[in-house]
Amino acid sequence: MLREPEARDRAGFVELLASPEVHTYLGGPRTRDELERTLPEVPERWPGSFVVELDRSMIGQILLRRAPAHHRPAAAGRIDLGYLFLPRAWGQGYAAEACAAALGWLTGVLPGEPVVLATQTANHRSMRLAAKLGFTEAERFRAWDADQWLGLRPPATGAV
Ligand SMILES: CC(C)(COP(=O)(O)OP(=O)(O)OC[C@H]1O[C@@H](n2cnc3c(N)ncnc32)[C@H](O)[C@@H]1OP(=O)(O)O)[C@@H](O)C(=O)NCCC(=O)NCCS
Repeated sequence: MLREPEARDRAGFVELLASPEVHTYLGGPRTRDELERTLPEVPERWPGSFVVELDRSMIGQILLRRAPAHHRPAAAGRIDLGYLFLPRAWGQGYAAEACAAALGWLTGVLPGEPVVLATQTANHRSMRLAAKLGFTEAERFRAWDADQWLGLRPPATGAV
């Protein structure tokens, strides 16, 4: 289930954001101490920010947000998709199902809006997910000491 974040998700956010495994390709995790001190009571509550829930517990988060400034000019001003799932939820198709639903929500609120996504090329799970969701390569670039991939998902045409 996709829903907006609530106060009961705070522990899930700490687990997600402090996980070294989740942050292997994202510049490293934050410390639990720092997260406990700084996360608001209800983290990440804004339109386009989703908690993914399975059996009443948070398994991940999906973010759809406009990036006014982006590392790559091709992505500046575009809506950017981000996804983080707890390792125990990987390998079961939940991320694909949840991201497709979030993109469907976006099509409903902003029809005709393209979406971008940046990920490290070494992040094979993320690269596979991006392809499954219909992103195709816009460019490859080097940043933060790693090879990066910028994907673009054209707006849905409405064709079945
Ligand atoms: C990127 C990330 C979300 C991908 O998660 P994921 O679980 O691999 O992605 P999917 O939901 O597409 O699941 C795909 C896997 O589920 C398997 N699967 C099992 N049952 C399935 C089912 N019923 N339906 C679909 N897929 C199923 C697929 O075969 C595939 O396995 P494979 O990777 O071994 O080929 C996850 O690895 C993650 O959170 N990483 C850390 C955060 C991160 O790096 N984010 C990127 C930021 S840009």
